Amino acid sequence: MSLPMPVPTTARQPLWYKDAVIYQLHVKTFADSNGDGIGDFRGLSSKLNYLADLGVTCLWLLPMYPSPFRDDGYDIADYYSIHPSYGTLDDFREFLEAAHTRRLQVVTELVLNHTSDQHTWFKEARMSRNNPRRDWYVWSDTDDKYRGVRIIFIDTERSNWAWAPESKAYYWHRFFSHQPDLNYDNPAVREEMWNVMRFWLGLGVDGFRVDAVPYLIEREGTSCENLPETHDVVKFLRANLAEHFPDRMLLADANQPPELVRPYFSEGDEFHMAFHFPLMTRMFMAVRLEDRKPLVEVIERTPEIPETCQWGIFLRNHDELTLEMVSDVERAYMIDEYARDPASRIYLGIRRRLAPLLDGDRRRIELMNGLLMSMPGSPIIYYGDEIGMGDNIYLGDRNGVRTPMQWNGGWNAGFSTADPERLAQPQISNHQFCYQARKGESQTRADHSLLNWMRRLISVRQSTAVFSRGTTTFLMPANHRVLAYLRSLGREQVLCVYNLSNSAQAVELDLQSLAGAVPIEMFGRSLFPRIGELPYMLTLEPYAFFWFRLRRL
Ligand code: BGC
Repeated sequence: MSLPMPVPTTARQPLWYKDAVIYQLHVKTFADSNGDGIGDFRGLSSKLNYLADLGVTCLWLLPMYPSPFRDDGYDIADYYSIHPSYGTLDDFREFLEAAHTRRLQVVTELVLNHTSDQHTWFKEARMSRNNPRRDWYVWSDTDDKYRGVRIIFIDTERSNWAWAPESKAYYWHRFFSHQPDLNYDNPAVREEMWNVMRFWLGLGVDGFRVDAVPYLIEREGTSCENLPETHDVVKFLRANLAEHFPDRMLLADANQPPELVRPYFSEGDEFHMAFHFPLMTRMFMAVRLEDRKPLVEVIERTPEIPETCQWGIFLRNHDELTLEMVSDVERAYMIDEYARDPASRIYLGIRRRLAPLLDGDRRRIELMNGLLMSMPGSPIIYYGDEIGMGDNIYLGDRNGVRTPMQWNGGWNAGFSTADPERLAQPQISNHQFCYQARKGESQTRADHSLLNWMRRLISVRQSTAVFSRGTTTFLMPANHRVLAYLRSLGREQVLCVYNLSNSAQAVELDLQSLAGAVPIEMFGRSLFPRIGELPYMLTLEPYAFFWFRLRRL
């Protein structure tokens, strides 16, 4: 495979991902430039100013490769090109250059664990037992190997084995049966995946969100998750990356409790970043319970990670709000509070966007985003959530949270000039969240829109490295409805105080160790009374929060 010409990039700062604000988007539903109803790279390029103005620093693109789209692109049929509906490799190259010019890094998907059954590798492998590709996948004569391994897509799959009639054998799949797992015990598979990485890194891509990491290797008698050999595969890919592209980033999609995700950072020689799944659930729980306990607990349970590593934190993404890794009690609580309508449930989770989960309540949307932007990690915003977009729980699978971006009040909300029937996904039409009510470019012009508030939030967050790099210390005031913590980095200190409840709260904070400092509210730059020896008293409206920079004046 000959390597393409690289796209020039802005210099990547060391550890750039630690200071990133990431925006996750789907090319398919972001902006359509040629009127075929499907978003594309030229459309996306035309919206880069909007993204740069929002203040995000990194884009994470959902899979953009040729695919039969039976799992919205996570079923890849060719790792070395762009899905024709999205444009050409040249369009991608131009997009990458335009993004870099605006100082936006670009992270793409690396689906390691499985391919589509339409990939030529699998088409060849399934044909006969002695096909040279046979050993690229995981085969068995019976379907009782690896018994007891959990099924992830419980609504559609009954087994992790599927039958290949051509060669009369079963193949292993952790996700849909049309997504056969690759065999990472075969060194040729590892080498090929490194070739895939090299191809996109050579073009100038800044990093990868590595899909479904825990499942790479299977062993009898285990859960087939997080095995030591899986870590060996990751170490192999990281070592290659370190040698050839040391300034790029790998982000692990490992939906596991923090103590099992921790090994994926290893000694700083596996992943640079990993999602913090339980923190997401706990943010939703704390706001519903009106109690800080779930949040304090999860952060205190989160192990330290190497200096060069970072958590990826988020409220929502393109999947269901996953409840796979929480306790039965927590899951029941979340379902009860956030998914009363059975149609909003899928697999072990909830297929809703942020705004509908919070009943469209602006105060809670702001509070949750305030938490997201100040908790330890690099925050990830899911496209459309910055304008409070809605969902459609009747669309099937997880498509209801992947509807077209709402840009303006024009035809198809400005997403596409196609007939509405041709759109990749239908627009949201319910009255509370439809495009007449929520639209990006129009919110740009309204001073008090959610979008402009989000811009301000991001710019305040980015005004100091304390949020991205600082330590976190909880204060434990008697009032449990208030969450308060100190983020510190060198001499810089920021005090964050949140009212998690729907009623006004007063709180007394023990700030004795900070006596003499003056809190400066970071959004309005107003000075608050100097901290003294006595408890520091604050009052907060329902769901209100403060960020104070502490200054010795
Ligand atoms: C992705 C899902 C996808 C699955 C199988 C997950 O990590 O986020 O959208 O269905 O992998 O590829």
